[in-house]
Amino acid sequence: MTAHANYSLRDEIRDYWSDRAETFDLQVGHEIFSEQERAAWHALISRHLGPGAGRASLDLACGTGVISHLMHDLGFVVTGLDWSEAMLAKARAKAQKRGAGIRFIIGDAERTLEDRASYDVIVTRHLVWTLLDPKTAFAEWFSLLKPGGKLLVIDGDFASRNWATNLRELWEKLTTGKSRVVDNEGAVMARRHLSILARVYFSGGARAEEIGRLLTEAGFEQPLVDWKLGAVHRAQARQLSWPKALERATQHRFAICATKPGQKSTTVPCHRETAPPVAVPSPVEVEQHRSSTPLSSDCYSLRWQGCRPVCGFPVRHDLRHPTGAPAVRSRRLQLAARPTRADRGWKWEPSDLDG
Ligand SMILES: C[S@@+](CC[C@H](N)C(=O)[O-])C[C@H]1O[C@@H](n2cnc3c(N)ncnc32)[C@H](O)[C@@H]1O
Repeated sequence: MTAHANYSLRDEIRDYWSDRAETFDLQVGHEIFSEQERAAWHALISRHLGPGAGRASLDLACGTGVISHLMHDLGFVVTGLDWSEAMLAKARAKAQKRGAGIRFIIGDAERTLEDRASYDVIVTRHLVWTLLDPKTAFAEWFSLLKPGGKLLVIDGDFASRNWATNLRELWEKLTTGKSRVVDNEGAVMARRHLSILARVYFSGGARAEEIGRLLTEAGFEQPLVDWKLGAVHRAQARQLSWPKALERATQHRFAICATKPGQKSTTVPCHRETAPPVAVPSPVEVEQHRSSTPLSSDCYSLRWQGCRPVCGFPVRHDLRHPTGAPAVRSRRLQLAARPTRADRGWKWEPSDLDG
């Protein structure tokens, strides 16, 4: 058997990304090009994972470390893992330049060799679509989390075409013209990309429902799919051609937050930016959390029947007894209706839920 015959699909994927490392950060959607986009990412991560507060986080397939830096900004202690040395070299250089103490390690996200139950949160952007064995990967990630730990997957279906894809291609054809000099390198990379995509587990596109199902199978509590990536897309759109921005906004892109069951560790409840949906079934459970972090002193988690997992709100004195006393003594409250209405003497003031 020749050495070439031993060259596996894993090697091929790793080498493909290594070859893209040099120019990876030049692309919108990879590196962040505005403070508006950075703020949108911070908000997305915070509403699922809460403030960092020194908790241990793992950025799987960190690439050049874009997400690692966002996590570091939010106060997490960050480890970034990737199997491409070329990507890690970029990530390390960036961290050194920013003076960010982030640990970057080489490894396979499907078999990390990291300690079991050693992370409070795991985050990963644009890895799942390229996994060969997501079942093994999700079992591995489950084992790396502490009980109560959270996994945040940010990904999308990059295989399926939609009407906006056709429109973009037509627009590019018209604006670049037939006489365009063929970018050989770009064409070769595009072919490599398509060839890899055809052989990965999600060759038909990574769909949120399927990923959610596999996460549940791996033991995670009912994963919450978040489609609200609009703020990120709007910020990116300012740097993109309008057909490209339109395609991005209409693609199947999502974040999924899943929790490892077990005792609540040092986990800070997840935060939401917006008020709960109108049609929330009753009863609602409100659970108070006492956090030791300076960022959130009194937090409440809300559980809706049939609307799990828990959504937390960064509130201080929003939930009050009519006497005006903040609900700091009650460990658990049962509300018969959605918490915007007064119930059992407790009044929910949703003013702080926005923004
Ligand atoms: C699209 S890039 C995403 C990089 C980064 N997560 C981001 O969002 O900016 C995909 C990255 O996944 C890495 N990767 C793919 N499969 C991997 C695996 N099984 N183990 C570790 N890294 C992997 C590649 O080396 C590459 O850096």
